[in-house]
Amino acid sequence: MFNLDLIESRLLKKTFVKKIYYLDEVDSTNDFAKSITEKDNVLILTDHQTSGKGRFNRKWESDKGRNLTFTIVKKFMLEPDCRQLVNFFTAYFLLTGIKSFLLSHIKTDSYLQLGIKWPNDILLNSKKISGILIEHNINKNTYVIGAGVNVNQLKFDSEYSEKTSSLRNFLNEKINLNELLIEIMLNYDKYIHLVTKENYDTIFNLWYNSNLLIGNEVEFYENDKTVINAKFIDIQKDGSIKLKIDKSIKTYTSGDIRILSFTGDNYYI
Ligand code: BTN
Repeated sequence: MFNLDLIESRLLKKTFVKKIYYLDEVDSTNDFAKSITEKDNVLILTDHQTSGKGRFNRKWESDKGRNLTFTIVKKFMLEPDCRQLVNFFTAYFLLTGIKSFLLSHIKTDSYLQLGIKWPNDILLNSKKISGILIEHNINKNTYVIGAGVNVNQLKFDSEYSEKTSSLRNFLNEKINLNELLIEIMLNYDKYIHLVTKENYDTIFNLWYNSNLLIGNEVEFYENDKTVINAKFIDIQKDGSIKLKIDKSIKTYTSGDIRILSFTGDNYYI
C-alpha cells in the first residue's frame, strides 16, 4: 500500500508530475497509460499488475504490494534519430536514483556492484533488480515509460530466480516503497530538462559509462530462440551494439544478453 497523500505532497507542484493515478490493481500501468486522456506529466502507480509486460512480450512478474511498478507519461520533443535518448536517460537516472537510496541505507561493509545491462536492465551484483519498457505509440512526442523495480520481494519464479533479485535481498531490511519511489522521481525530475538533442552526447556518455557488458563474453538472443556466443565489443551512439561472433563483427539494434564471464570491477558503489 502506498501513501498517496505523502507521494502527492512531495511530487505535485514540486516536480514535472501534475497528476498521479494510484490503482490497487491494473492489468499493466503502461496499458493504462495509453488509455487516459492526459498525454504529459502523469505518474501511474499500482500495488499489483495482473498482466505486467516486459520486453519481447514477456511477462513482468511482481508480487502484490512488494515492489515498484509504475509508468511515467511524458512528452519529449525529439527528432526520430534522437528518441533513444529517453531510453538512455531513463536507465541512467533510474540507476542513480536507486544508487542514492542504497547509499543512504547500506549497513553492510560488502561492496555492491550496480550497473546497466544493455539496453536498460539494472543489475545489482549481477542480478536484475529493475527493467524498463518504453512505449511510444500515443502520439509521436508522448512516451510511456514503464519501470519495474524489485524491492521487497524475496523469491522469484524458478525461470528467473537465478538472475533476478531484489533490493531487500542485498540490504537485508524491509524497504519503504514510498521513500524509494519519491527518491527515484525527485532524481528523475532534477535532470529531466537534459532530455534535448543538444545533450545527446552527455546523456549517452553517462549511460554508456554505466554499461556492464563491454569486453565481456556473452550469450546473445537475437529473438527468444536463437542463441549466439559472442564477445560484447562496444555500443554505438545510436544504442546499437557491436558483437564479435566467430571472427566477424556484427551490429544489432535489439536483442537480449546473458553475461557469461564478467570483469566489471569499476562499477562498485
Ligand atoms: C523488462 O525488463 O523486460 C521490462 C520490464 C518493465 C516492467 C514495467 S512494470 C510497470 C510497467 N508496466 C508494465 O506492464 N511493464 C512496465
